[in-house]
Parts: sequence; C-alpha cells; structure tokens
Amino acid sequence: LRLKVVGEPISGGQPKAGVDHAPIHLVNAGLPQQLKEIGWEVHFGGHHQFEEIETTNDPPIGKLKRPRLVSSVCKAVADTVGAHAKNGVLPVTIGGDHSLAMGTISGTFSQYPDACVIWVDAHADINTIETTESGNIHGMPVSFLLGIGTSVPEFSWIKPVLRPERLVYIGLRDLDIGEKQLLKQHGIKAFSMHEVDKYGIGQVVEKALDHVNPGRDRPIHLSFDVDALDPSVAPSTGTPVRGGLTFREGHYICEAIWETGLLIGLDIMEVNPSLEDQKSVEQTVAVGCSLIRSALGETLL
Ligand code: ARG
Ligand code: MN
Ligand code: MN
Ligand code: MN
Repeated sequence: LRLKVVGEPISGGQPKAGVDHAPIHLVNAGLPQQLKEIGWEVHFGGHHQFEEIETTNDPPIGKLKRPRLVSSVCKAVADTVGAHAKNGVLPVTIGGDHSLAMGTISGTFSQYPDACVIWVDAHADINTIETTESGNIHGMPVSFLLGIGTSVPEFSWIKPVLRPERLVYIGLRDLDIGEKQLLKQHGIKAFSMHEVDKYGIGQVVEKALDHVNPGRDRPIHLSFDVDALDPSVAPSTGTPVRGGLTFREGHYICEAIWETGLLIGLDIMEVNPSLEDQKSVEQTVAVGCSLIRSALGETLL
C-alpha cells in the first residue's frame, strides 16, 4: 500500500485567500503519521509552489477569473497525479480549491480511462463559460472534464475524459439555474440532500455505485469538497451552504468507497484555514484528516 500526498496550494479558482494554505495545515495536524499508522507507506512530495507560473498578466477570458494561472497549475497537477497513478501509487490530493479536480481527474483517467467519479459536494461545479455567474473556475471543473460548453483554448489540454454516465454526485443543495439545466440535459445522476434524507446515506451510496459502477469493477476517483458537509461540521470553507451532510454521513461515504477496493484517486478540497475562528479551523482540518483516513481504510472496529 503506497500513497503519495500531493499538497496543492492554489486559490486561483475562487476569490478568498487562504484555501492554498490547507495542505500544510493537514500535514502539520499529523496526517502522514496517521496514515502510516493504518498501514500506508506515505510519501509527501512537499508542497508544490508554482512559483514559476506567471500570474501578473492574467486578464479574464469571458467571465473566467485567473484562467491562465488555474490552467497551468491544473496541468502540473495532472502530470504529477498521472505519474503517481502510473507508478501504482495512490494519489491523494489536498486542495486548494476544487478547480484542481481538472488536474487530478485528468491525471487518474490518463491511467484508468474506464474509471468513474463520485463527486461529493454542496455544488455541482459544472458551470460552463456560458453559464457561470461568478466566473470562479472552482465552480466549473466538471464541465471541462465532460467537454461541454464552448471550449476555451487556454484549457485545451484537458481532454473530455469523463462521460456523463460515469459521474455521480452526492450532497448537492446549491445549484445555479444553468447547472440544473446541464444536469438534466446530460442525464447526470445526482443524489441531493433530499435523497440523503429520504433514503439514508447507506442506500444513497449503494444507488450511486449501482449507477456508475454496476459491476463493481470500475476504478473509482472520489472528489470530496468539504462544503458537502454541514457548516456546523466543516465551517472553514469558502462557500458554505446549510443543510449538509453530518459528520457520520461524510465519513460513511468514504468508508463505503474504500470497502469496494476500487479507489484509485482521492481529492479533499476547499478546506480554508483562514476562514472562521481558530476552533473552527482546527475542527475543519481535523475533519479533512479523518475523511482521508476513512477513505484509506481506517475502520471503527
Ligand atoms: N455555483 C457557484 C459558482 O459557480 C459556486 C461554486 C462553488 N464551488 C466550490 N468548489 N466550492 O461560483
Ligand atoms: Mn496558516
Ligand atoms: Mn462546493
Ligand atoms: Mn466543489
């Protein structure tokens, strides 16, 4: 069991400073040691700095904010994550904002083209250059991976590796109007908080797996935005939405995916240690660590 923790300090996909600071907080909270204790050989590659990436001349493209910065960081992440996947090392990426998933999923799918994605989030992050209201690219990675919307030359390195039927969402509760239309139009399966309330998290995960992975034989990339959790559980995040997953529901998702034995990529995104008070930060960082442990085989008994 070998894994590589990829710390990705980037905040360019959204406007609030500090989300780039999350990886160091999770590492300082003891994540590498915790993972060793549950049997992993852990390599922490250090925090990527992206100092070489030009950020001074990065005017918007359409509404998209900091497009060149986000694209080049994601490209570097795709190469790094892809190399780990190729070497049989499980890539665990700590964001940073969720625009990074363009890099992580491009990376894992370069090695596992028949994989599926389970996207746990309050948001669908599927806006296109046409539908985005905010221009924040962390609200858009899924559209790039699906290859929908008008293509943006600066992002042309992203191949449409993800097919709509290989994607499933859990935890949604805050979609833009255009995003709702895109989900319908492309027949993308989503289990919102309504379905979590109705069926319970156990049934929801089972149904989600039945949809993207009926034979339980496809590799799984889990992309987990901590704002899927209720703000009372994970307060330090940039776009909190009330009515989210409980602590246990979030961990259950991770445990159940680990149990499939099919996990090939893991993202924990949108922890922002500069938001809310110190107690909230510590709580959110600790939740980030424990979600990762649950997804990597820590059991309760
Ligand atoms: N839908 C909103 C937008 O496009 C919010 C996206 C929030 N995304 C996230 N990764 N937290 O800006
Ligand atoms: Mn700090
Ligand atoms: Mn979100
Ligand atoms: Mn997200």
